Amino acid sequence: MIINIAVLASGVGSNLQALIDAPDLGAEISMVISDRPGAAALDRAGTAGIPALVVPWGEFDSRAEFCKAILGELEGAGADGVVLAGFMRVLSEDVIAAYPNRVLNIHPSLLPAFPGSNAVAQALEHGVKVTGVTVHFVDEEVDHGPIIAQRAVPVLPDDDVASLQARIQIEEHQLYPQVVSAFAAGRLQVEGRKVRWD
Ligand code: GRF
Repeated sequence: MIINIAVLASGVGSNLQALIDAPDLGAEISMVISDRPGAAALDRAGTAGIPALVVPWGEFDSRAEFCKAILGELEGAGADGVVLAGFMRVLSEDVIAAYPNRVLNIHPSLLPAFPGSNAVAQALEHGVKVTGVTVHFVDEEVDHGPIIAQRAVPVLPDDDVASLQARIQIEEHQLYPQVVSAFAAGRLQVEGRKVRWD
């Protein structure tokens, strides 16, 4: 059975594009939701014929109200899973509780190092020699849930944020479709903080 996933994206949407282009994702992207009306991710969805909608963050009085609207859209679309691809809002506990171990996120560092925004700049400023990509299940804490997969990316002596981010994104675009495919196939088993690939 092919599962339905919703992709939530706030920006450029290059990871969304990698999922759209994946030849054997094993999941149907049934909806793309953005919190920002101008997000390029919405255009990518439109080009691919995927229903895309905006739940505008700025028009809600609270995170709770915003997330209630997101949850309504997810449930209305019959989404089996939620894939965050550069989604810059923190989801409420209600959304996480409705999709336990069924919300995935991709983060541009080797978590638990450098959670939060500007992870690439944080890594550079800290002087690490290796950083990378983490795909994890989302729990109630930011960039914290059980880790599904990681890829290391070396930091080169002359790297700036743009050059390092570009190499990280090459890894992201390979890794995220692999993980979503494994998720869609029911291969990811969560035991506490550990995720086993069957
Ligand atoms: C990615 O680097 C991802 O790790 C982070 O946000 C960025 C989104 O990039 N969460 P894009 O919009 O998919 O191009």
